[in-house]
Amino acid sequence: MTLAVEELDWSQTEVPAPRHIAIIMDGNGRWAAERGLPRAEGHRQGVDSVRRTVKAALELGITHLTLFSFSSENWSRPRQEIHDLFGLMRRFVRRDLADLHKNGVRIRVIGTRSGLDDDILRLIDDAVLLTKDNSALNLTIAFNYGARDEIARAAARVAEAVAEGTLDASDITPERFGSYLDTADLPDPDLLIRTSGERRLSNFLLWQLAYSEFVFVDTYWPDFSRETLEAAIAEYQQRTRRFGGLKARSTA
Ligand code: IPE
Ligand code: IPE
Ligand code: MG
Repeated sequence: MTLAVEELDWSQTEVPAPRHIAIIMDGNGRWAAERGLPRAEGHRQGVDSVRRTVKAALELGITHLTLFSFSSENWSRPRQEIHDLFGLMRRFVRRDLADLHKNGVRIRVIGTRSGLDDDILRLIDDAVLLTKDNSALNLTIAFNYGARDEIARAAARVAEAVAEGTLDASDITPERFGSYLDTADLPDPDLLIRTSGERRLSNFLLWQLAYSEFVFVDTYWPDFSRETLEAAIAEYQQRTRRFGGLKARSTA
């Protein structure tokens, strides 16, 4: 028996997989501490999780993946740890860029350039340029990123445009404002995942997550796997997104 469309209720229709998944990769330090290892080893294992997650996203047909890798607040960590994290970022780009490119991954980096060494900026620019025409997976790395900083930088650019006369203050809508953010050409995340049991945003994508579904998992980031990702997607597919209305919708 086939049901007429109007007889179907949402619970019987298939909720589409999320188009854009954002992840706060947390718990590297605790993963290491539980094993009596230095925090740096947790971060190293965390890079393997990034590789696994990118591969899984490609296989699952997720088109947008955004990963929080270094926050503007992480500068308050010990210098050695910051050094280790930056070293891993360098190595990741050097070792994985060719493979990512071959697999059709387009890399974007969001956050501020200020405070970053020239060689890291060059690596980032090279990765973005090399992969700019790819479209299988849009991989965005939030590096030296803080949402309040992003919003303040956007506001400053909006103010400049108004002062120059290229933008009318009365034309500043949420859509227009969004086009000044680092994520200008990206859809909002459908699903936010945070690992390690913490339940906070830690200054991640405050604007863009306005209507995202949040899934918090206890798994530490180095243990994150394709199975963890699939379980989070399954939980997302149980949710009913209404965007303020009464009916279920899959996007805003
Ligand atoms: C996430 O793991 C990586 C970064 C924030 C750079 P943490 O380093 O925050 O690990 P925990 O939270 O101390 O376990
Ligand atoms: C958030 O994790 C930042 C990243 C995952 C890069 P933190 O570990 O820095 O967050 P807090 O300090 O516990 O809020
Ligand atoms: Mg943490």
